[in-house]
Amino acid sequence: MDRVTTNTVEYWDRVAESSRFSHPLDASALSAAVPRSARLVDLGCGYGRLLGELIDLGYRDVVGVDQSAAMLDRARAQHPAAQLIEAPLDRLPLADSSVDGVLLYAVLTCIPADDLQLAVMAEIERVLVPGGHLFLSDLPLQTDRRNRARYRRDADHCGQFGVFDSGDGTRFRHHEESWLDRLTANFEGRGSRSVHTRTMRGNPILVVQRHLRLVP
Ligand SMILES: C[S@@+](CC[C@H](N)C(=O)[O-])C[C@H]1O[C@@H](n2cnc3c(N)ncnc32)[C@H](O)[C@@H]1O
Repeated sequence: MDRVTTNTVEYWDRVAESSRFSHPLDASALSAAVPRSARLVDLGCGYGRLLGELIDLGYRDVVGVDQSAAMLDRARAQHPAAQLIEAPLDRLPLADSSVDGVLLYAVLTCIPADDLQLAVMAEIERVLVPGGHLFLSDLPLQTDRRNRARYRRDADHCGQFGVFDSGDGTRFRHHEESWLDRLTANFEGRGSRSVHTRTMRGNPILVVQRHLRLVP
């Protein structure tokens, strides 16, 4: 894969005010599995959309982590009760085994490279308590003509089928489900669902959502 300089802090800072994310929170799976006293960390929290939902559900110890200061400014303004940390997800300033549950929503799609995705997963495993919960929402390979065309268009220069340039300065990845299985090999599955939603640009998209537990 060529050097990806596009998925930078600068891109997410630039779009922070105008972005609108949409992967729906699986509130019933979360509520059934995780007590309200739990420490929940939303990795790649963006402008705090899910932090607000967690607080509204009654979770009191809610932390958001993102590397974009502009996203966190927007999150801070909207959700003053949330704790916010500016950090890259492959170097979390959180103690080992200090987190009961992690949300990772629409974040792997922003990280095209295998090695960085693996580093983020290793950090999640480090900070979660044994048996801790991971709620993952991300994009599998799509079957529609628009997406298949751009996978084919960019496979060579992006070095991976499913990675493509967005055209506005970033690069996204849609995943083989087998790759998501590999990333989460140290977790056991508790549930999964597929959901139709919209991209940042309003195009229809299929999202896969998994509830996983870190195998003790
Ligand atoms: C598509 S947004 C999703 C935001 C949020 N999870 C939601 O669903 O509303 C992806 C976010 O992940 C952040 N992000 C991407 N790669 C990151 C990394 N390596 N370290 C920290 N944050 C990252 C971006 O800054 C952006 O705010």
